[in-house]
Amino acid sequence: MTESQLDPEALSGGAWGGSPPEEVLRAAIARELTGARQRTALLTDAVDEDDLVRQHSPLMSPLVWDLAHIANQEELWLLREVGGRDSMHPEIDPLYDAFEHPRSERPTLPLLAPGEARAYGHEVRGRVLDLLDRVPFTGPRLLGGGFAFGMIAQHEVQHDETMLITHQIRAGAPVLAAPSPGPAPADALRLPAEVLVPGGPFTMGTSTEPWALDNERPAHAVQVAPFYLDTTPVTSGAYAAFIDDGGYDDPRWWTGAGWEHRQQAGLTAPLYWRRDGGQWTRRVFGRLEPVPPDEPVLHVSWYEADAYARWAGRRLPTEAEWEKAARFDPATGLTRRYPWGNAEPEASLANLGQVFLRPAPAGSYPAGAAPCGARQLIGDVWEWTSSDFGPYPGFEAWPYKEYSEVFFGPEYKVLRGGSFGVSPVAGRATFRNWDYPIRRQIFSGFRTARSGVAESG
Ligand code: AVJ
Ligand code: FE
Repeated sequence: MTESQLDPEALSGGAWGGSPPEEVLRAAIARELTGARQRTALLTDAVDEDDLVRQHSPLMSPLVWDLAHIANQEELWLLREVGGRDSMHPEIDPLYDAFEHPRSERPTLPLLAPGEARAYGHEVRGRVLDLLDRVPFTGPRLLGGGFAFGMIAQHEVQHDETMLITHQIRAGAPVLAAPSPGPAPADALRLPAEVLVPGGPFTMGTSTEPWALDNERPAHAVQVAPFYLDTTPVTSGAYAAFIDDGGYDDPRWWTGAGWEHRQQAGLTAPLYWRRDGGQWTRRVFGRLEPVPPDEPVLHVSWYEADAYARWAGRRLPTEAEWEKAARFDPATGLTRRYPWGNAEPEASLANLGQVFLRPAPAGSYPAGAAPCGARQLIGDVWEWTSSDFGPYPGFEAWPYKEYSEVFFGPEYKVLRGGSFGVSPVAGRATFRNWDYPIRRQIFSGFRTARSGVAESG
């Protein structure tokens, strides 16, 4: 098969089914920017000033840094790069450059106070909405399909997830509340443990999704051997069986680096878990609760996920395997935008957007299942893959090297699929996240895989 035969985007016309009229694009951009800002406001209005300026963990910035950094990136890319304006406050720009100051040193900087940060964000946003009214979506590449605006909306929602992580780390009385995603559907207990993904080529990545970030590009054909993938993410109950079986005390299940880290960090269970008598409890956004056994396990490092998989006689899926399971439709031979098809995410398809502040029980979202039968590939928990974060063939850093390129290499592992904390605007099946294998304050879980047998003939 040739690349173009494999590329569904050539047939579908990409995300919008062709270019949308400019008013439609303007309205969609305004909706995404406004939605992101509502979430940012909720996350930063929920705590008092002292909580906003405090550092809750050396792994995280003070919330007030995220708040002004969101505004500063918006000013940089939309008002300066697109709009051609000068910096509004040149003296503060270095404070909000993530590469000038690591998270651990941000609380010592002369940051804008909460009121100043809010006013700055408000002023930038007002000017951006004015710009949006008059800017053409043709011409410079940064504006094509509204990319620069889409990139900034995605930047803000990514920081909304970062701030939600800070909220989970934060000690003290709960300030966030959310409804429950409800019980799993009736068929969840009858689902097969694993599904088969057929071998053969598929199109990975995208060249036409208008708001895809540089590391998702370009679309390219990848050969994937047949494999089996867990139908759902690994649950807390299954993970507890690994703990009960002495999984944390048996170096056979761990890589050398993983075992060293497990010992040095004293890992005995996922982050936030406590053994209370015979029961596991955990703290979720300031509330103590029994760990729900049927919920996808959360807050595990790559090393723990990898050890669990080996204990289970399995392995983590590669990134290509994960994406093939999520996007490939064997009936047509085409790659879809999402597991369920090409339609945008909505409430019946995936747990996204901080609507619920937890993953839904394993087996939820039957309408969002992939053609292979796997559920919850999008939303709920970020899923660790076995793959290092690297460029696709033909990768081009764009519009800046510091988004992806500087992170490529074996020290970062790829996570896929998004969590309940990810907005639909960044909930694409091509979206790539990455982190160090020791990290577990993120909303990370996983599912396991095993190699299948190639069909003969
Ligand atoms: C893609 C989540 C790893 O938070 O470091 C935010 C996203 N990039 N601002 C991060 C990001 C620039 C990034 N991750
Ligand atoms: Fe950022």
